[in-house]
Amino acid sequence: MTFNFNKESKIYVAGHRGLVGSAILDLLKKRGYQNLIYREKEQLDLRRQAEVEAFFNKEKPEFLFIAAAKVGGILANKTYKAEFIYDNLAISSNLINSAYSCGVKKLINLGSSCIYPADAPQPLKEEYLLTGKPEKTNEPYAIAKIAGLKLCQFYNEQYGTDYLTLMPPNLYGLNDKFNLETSHFIPAILRKFALARALQDNNFIFIKKDLVLHPIGFGLDYNLDLTRIEKIEELLEKLGITREYIKLWGSGKPRREFLAVEDLADAMLYFMENVSFRDSGEFVNIGYQRDYTIAEAADIMKKITDYKGEIVFDETYPDGVFQKKLNTIKAERLGWKPKIKFEDGLQRLYSSVLKKIGEIMTTKEILEKYKTIVVYGMSTNPAKPANEVPHYMMARGYKIIPLNPMTEEIDGLKCYKSLKDIPDEIDILDVFRRSEDCLAVVEEAVERRNSRGDIKVIWLQLGIINNEAKKLAEENGIEFIQDKCIKIEYNINF
Ligand SMILES: NC(=O)c1ccc[n+]([C@@H]2O[C@H](COP(=O)([O-])OP(=O)(O)OC[C@H]3O[C@@H](n4cnc5c(N)ncnc54)[C@H](OP(=O)(O)O)[C@@H]3O)[C@@H](O)[C@H]2O)c1
Repeated sequence: MTFNFNKESKIYVAGHRGLVGSAILDLLKKRGYQNLIYREKEQLDLRRQAEVEAFFNKEKPEFLFIAAAKVGGILANKTYKAEFIYDNLAISSNLINSAYSCGVKKLINLGSSCIYPADAPQPLKEEYLLTGKPEKTNEPYAIAKIAGLKLCQFYNEQYGTDYLTLMPPNLYGLNDKFNLETSHFIPAILRKFALARALQDNNFIFIKKDLVLHPIGFGLDYNLDLTRIEKIEELLEKLGITREYIKLWGSGKPRREFLAVEDLADAMLYFMENVSFRDSGEFVNIGYQRDYTIAEAADIMKKITDYKGEIVFDETYPDGVFQKKLNTIKAERLGWKPKIKFEDGLQRLYSSVLKKIGEIMTTKEILEKYKTIVVYGMSTNPAKPANEVPHYMMARGYKIIPLNPMTEEIDGLKCYKSLKDIPDEIDILDVFRRSEDCLAVVEEAVERRNSRGDIKVIWLQLGIINNEAKKLAEENGIEFIQDKCIKIEYNINF
C-alpha cells in the first residue's frame, strides 16, 4: 500500500446516515479509526458545489468513502428521473473534484450491478460495462453512476490520483428505507412478511408500531386510521398483506444477487487499506457469488418469519432485468470474499427489525410511565383538540399544567407564561403546534432539561415530522414522539 492509511487518518464518510454510509462508519469505529468526519444533508447539501468545496477546504480530509447518492427501487427511479440523474451527477462531480483539489489521498466510490447493460452476458464481468444500454427503468441513475465511475478513472489518468470504484449487487441491512412504494426488494418483502406474521398472530400493537415507524407510500400515510382494526386490515390488504396470502410484484422468476451491507463495508475498508487502482483496474465487482430467484428469496423470508400463508405473484408489475449476477473473480484474486451467508444475514436483519419496533413506546405506555404533563399552547376554545385532549387526560387522572402566554387561567387551571416559570417537575411536554414552530419549543425544553433535569418526553400532537427538532430533543436525552393521528381515543389508547 502506498498511502499511510492509519487509525489517526482523517476520513470523511459522505452519506453516513444511509444504508452503506452507516455501515462503513460503524465498521471504521469498530476497527478503531478515530478521526472520522461526516455531515448531515441538512448541514451540507452535496449538490451544491460551493458548499462542498468550502467544506473540503476547511476540513481537509485525507481519505474519502462516497456512500452519498440518490437511491431507490424501480418505481422511484421511474417517477423521479430528473432527480436521479441530476442529484447523482452533482454529488459525484462535487465530491470527486473537491477531493482532487484538496489532495485527498485515496477515495472509494460506489457503482452498482444495475448499471451494466441490460443484455450483458451473465455473470457480469467488469469488461462488459458500456457494451450496451442499461435497463430502461433505471437509465437516469445508471448514466449518472457511470459518469461518477468514469470521473474517477479519468482523474486517475490525468492527475495520477488513486480513486477506486466498487460495484456491489443489491444490498440489505437495518438502515435501509422500508417505504413499501419506493424501497428495494429485501426491505419491502421483509416488512410485508413481518406485517403478515403479526396479522396472523393478531398482534395489532406490532402492526401499529410498524406503520408509525416507517412511511408506507402510495399516498396511504396521509389518512392513516389506526383506531379501528378493520381499517388496518383493509389497509394491509391494499398492500397485498393478508392472513392467507402475500402479494409480491412481478413473476418471481428474475434472479438477483444480495449482499449484506456489512460485507460491502468490509470490502470498502479492505480496498481502501490494501488495493490501489493500479493493481485492480478502475473498478471491481463485489458480490455474494450466488444468486436467487425472487421466489426463492421470498421463500427464505417466509421461513424466517414463520408466516403460514401463500406467496402470490402479481405479474401486472414489471420484472426488470431477468438476471443480475456479478462475476467476482477479480475481487477474489485481490484477496476479498463475502463472509455473511444470505440466510443468516436475513435472519439477523429480521431480528433487528423486531427489536427496533419493540423498542417504540406507544402513547399509552408513555402515559402509564409518566404522570405530569405540561400542555404547551393549551387552547381556551373547548372545541379544539388542544383543549379536548388535555381534558380527556385530566378525566383519567393525569396532572395537566397549561402553558399559554395569552391567558392567566384555562378552565380553573393556572396558566404559566413560560416553561421557566413552572415550578413542578415535568415529565411530558405536550405540544399543540404546527411542526414548523416546534423547533423553538424544543430548544426551550432542552434549556429547561439542561438546567432542571426534567422533561423526559416531548409529545407533538400536530403537523408533519420536524427532523431537526426530533434530533435536538433526542441528542439531549428527551424522547420525541409525534402522533400521526390526533384522535383522542387513539392517542390515549395506543
Ligand atoms: N442499496 C443498494 O441496494 C445499493 C446497491 C448497489 C449500489 N448501491 C450504492 O451504494 C451507495 C449508497 O447507497 P445506499 O443504499 O446507502 O443509499 P441511502 O441509504 O439512500 O443513503 C444515501 C445517503 O446519501 C445521502 N444523500 C443523498 N442526497 C444527498 C445530498 N444531496 N447531500 C448530502 N447527502 C445526500 C443521504 O442523506 P439522508 O440520509 O439525509 O437522506 C443518505 O445518507 C450509492 O452509491 C448506491 O448507488 C446501493
